[in-house]
Amino acid sequence: MSLRPLIASRRVILCVGCGGVGKTTTAAAIGLAAAAQGKRTLCLTVDPARRLAESLGLSEMKHEMQAVDSERFREAGVDVTGSLTVMMLDTKGTFDELVARYASPETRERILRNTLYRYISTSLAGTAEYMAMEKLYALRTDPRWDLIVIDTPPTTNALDFLDAPERMIEALDSPVFRWLVSAFEPSGKLSVNLLARGAAAALRGMGRLTGTGFLEALAELIVLLNDMLGGFRARANEVQKALRGPDVAYVLVTSPDPLSIREILYFAERLRELSMPRDAVIVNRMHRDPGARPSPEAVRAELAARGVKLEADGETRVLRAFEDEVRQRDLDRRHLGALEALEVGEQRPLRVSVPALIGDVHDLRALAKVSAALAPL
Ligand SMILES: Nc1ncnc2c1ncn2[C@@H]1O[C@H](COP(=O)(O)OP(=O)(O)O)[C@@H](O)[C@H]1O
Ligand SMILES: [Mg+2]
Repeated sequence: MSLRPLIASRRVILCVGCGGVGKTTTAAAIGLAAAAQGKRTLCLTVDPARRLAESLGLSEMKHEMQAVDSERFREAGVDVTGSLTVMMLDTKGTFDELVARYASPETRERILRNTLYRYISTSLAGTAEYMAMEKLYALRTDPRWDLIVIDTPPTTNALDFLDAPERMIEALDSPVFRWLVSAFEPSGKLSVNLLARGAAAALRGMGRLTGTGFLEALAELIVLLNDMLGGFRARANEVQKALRGPDVAYVLVTSPDPLSIREILYFAERLRELSMPRDAVIVNRMHRDPGARPSPEAVRAELAARGVKLEADGETRVLRAFEDEVRQRDLDRRHLGALEALEVGEQRPLRVSVPALIGDVHDLRALAKVSAALAPL
């Protein structure tokens, strides 16, 4: 199977899965496949490995957009008629843009200077997820791109980003938040009344924030944020709606490892509950089918042809390695049986496998191999 139909028909492809399975690599490879299909593609990564940047001819991934030089594609023998631009998600920068959009100029400066804001915009759980979706929302209708491929943050819980807009809205609408606002507001700015003190104590649990100035910073931030709440909430609603749009494809990335498969199944179930589609499952790093078992003579001849000298039991060891490969492949197949649970009913996700390459994905040729496995003609 191939991701080609998704690449051809959608505007956004969201790669989801737990950390370490190759999510960032596959997002970049989908981007490359799309560029090869003639799309002007933007790939938004979250935690790119340095080697991925290098393989694209970039010294590093930046928060700014960087177009991959078409000369690189030519060198690697990849025929690209579109273009590939990459960019790394900037959680704080995205949050700052939101503040700039919804707060009045005076309020904006005070929010950006607030010490607690700095914490919330970088480290508070859920912020990275929300900002990834926010960025996606902002770029989705940008006419410069035909397709946006997005890698999601490597959270312990692969579902966090899906709920992020909802949770943002819930938090803003929650009685606790309302209570905090009313607790701080009457006192004007920095004088903190008793009720607010209680509230602040309750809030301390959200981070290791202690010391003097905490209450003042909190009081100020809550009053300031309240000022931009209306716009913010409407925006979160829009983002939430956009995530359900027909132009968004959900691609689940897993390895053949049973734990990662279990996570993907759980994730797929959550998507179903949220009436969101499961468009494709990518199984990355599959053990290859080693083919027919060679005879000891064939092994000997092959080794001799390559100039490899082995000890006396060399052939036996090579054959043992071969059998290990067969076992690994059989194990992969057995583990993947669990994915069949997704392949019932009307809307069946595409299933695409990517072989484990020797070494990691360290150059454009290797990335092109992943890309070719994902979107064969
Ligand atoms: N099919 C593959 N074959 C070999 N190495 C791979 C493959 N897919 C990913 N890798 C390597 O695995 C490592 C983790 O991949 P990455 O995409 O950063 O994972 P994630 O984003 O899920 O944490 C990287 O070093 C990458 O080059
Ligand atoms: Mg990653």
